[in-house]
Amino acid sequence: MKISVVGLGFVGTVTGACLCEMGHEVVGVDLDQGKIDLFARGRAPILEPQINQLMADVWRSGRLRGTVDLAAAVAETDVTFVCVGTLRNTDGSQDISAVESVIQQIGEAIARKSTFHSVVIRSTVLPGTTRGHIMKLLERATDGSVGERFGLANNPEFTREGSAVADFRAPSRIVVGEIDMQTGDRLASIYSMIKSPIFRTSTEVAETVKYADNSWHALKVVFANEIDVISRFAGIDSHGVMDIFCADNDLNISSAYLKPGFAFGGPCLPKDVNVLTHWCRSNGLEVPVLAHISESNEHVIARASSEILGSGLTRIAVLGLAYKAGVCDLRGSPIAALVQRLLKEGRQVRAFDPDVSRGRGLATRHDYTDDAFDGLGTLLVDDIDALLEWAEMVVIMSHAGQYSTALSKLLPRHAVVDLTGRRGRV
Ligand SMILES: NC(=O)c1ccc[n+]([C@@H]2O[C@H](COP(=O)([O-])OP(=O)(O)OC[C@H]3O[C@@H](n4cnc5c(N)ncnc54)[C@H](O)[C@@H]3O)[C@@H](O)[C@H]2O)c1
Repeated sequence: MKISVVGLGFVGTVTGACLCEMGHEVVGVDLDQGKIDLFARGRAPILEPQINQLMADVWRSGRLRGTVDLAAAVAETDVTFVCVGTLRNTDGSQDISAVESVIQQIGEAIARKSTFHSVVIRSTVLPGTTRGHIMKLLERATDGSVGERFGLANNPEFTREGSAVADFRAPSRIVVGEIDMQTGDRLASIYSMIKSPIFRTSTEVAETVKYADNSWHALKVVFANEIDVISRFAGIDSHGVMDIFCADNDLNISSAYLKPGFAFGGPCLPKDVNVLTHWCRSNGLEVPVLAHISESNEHVIARASSEILGSGLTRIAVLGLAYKAGVCDLRGSPIAALVQRLLKEGRQVRAFDPDVSRGRGLATRHDYTDDAFDGLGTLLVDDIDALLEWAEMVVIMSHAGQYSTALSKLLPRHAVVDLTGRRGRV
């Protein structure tokens, strides 16, 4: 494939050199003549392990060139990777003026071409930017529509400075957010030599995955440092704590708890997070991320409550009342908290939860159920058919087996709020 790469910073230089190593013809483009002079002579304009050797090797192949003339580069290639910087304004908003500027030039160059050209956004842009602002700019500049004269994709960069070449050669995965299939196919073909999973998806998903990745990495660092604050105060070695923490690959370093859904709850998580952060506050320890966990969780309950109340419907059936399916424990149940809000706002609520019903039957003192929920006996029901007949809205807390009969009997007239995140969002 003939490829142009615009913006020869960390991302563009590594992308260009690695694509060239994979056998593609690459033209590097930058505003900075000094960078082009280096790149075009097989020398890296950045400091990065392995890049100098790689640049020298690919330059000898004759497949690597450099120019400041973006229009000429677009004219003689099939695909352009946009790797210019995206910055942060003083108010925190994103500055994509460099992307806008090159997109305008690329669009004008495509307008003069007779063949289909693919534009690939590799710079980090906010969710919706590729299909929104960038696509509009290209359509205006080319006087054509996506899929006709040009194609458009978002292919985020996940490599790390310091190991960028190794990361590019063996990424954990490749993400191709495509608008037209031709550009998606071209990218799949360009990366076909790399034996990592490739996820072909929408541009919005690709853009969001990039921000999810970076936010997650930042959150991990901040979390570890807040555990350090606690450990120091307790007079212990935080590395020892985190070594043992990281040895749990079932719940800690794993995909557990990482699927969006409803709020967390139960007898332990809410209590322990609150007690720990209260202890930190009392001892003057600053742990802002840990201190805001409960607040964030409350927002999830509040969003669900607003959605249900906002519907204006009054007869609400809830499938699942305990904090998770398969347990009878109502302590700290976020759905129980939601139900209490709805009752307070004058809604009628009935709930189906076979485990909670059985739990009430077992205990002599209902400390896991009635004590945790005032007036529970009046809203728990066992007859699914009667419940669905009565209900206008069904709120789903779980899709577990004990609810399958109920779920299979939902009628088109039922408004459904699925708190598991499977159908619609709250
Ligand atoms: N640096 C990283 O590790 C990394 C990793 C993943 C993603 N990203 C993202 O990739 C993008 C690029 O990052 P970077 O660190 O490589 O940026 P950089 O600042 O190192 O390089 C950007 C290059 O673009 C050039 N440029 C700017 N305007 C231009 C124009 N109009 N025409 C031609 N060239 C132009 C600049 O001269 C510069 O060489 C950013 O959106 C960044 O957030 C960076």
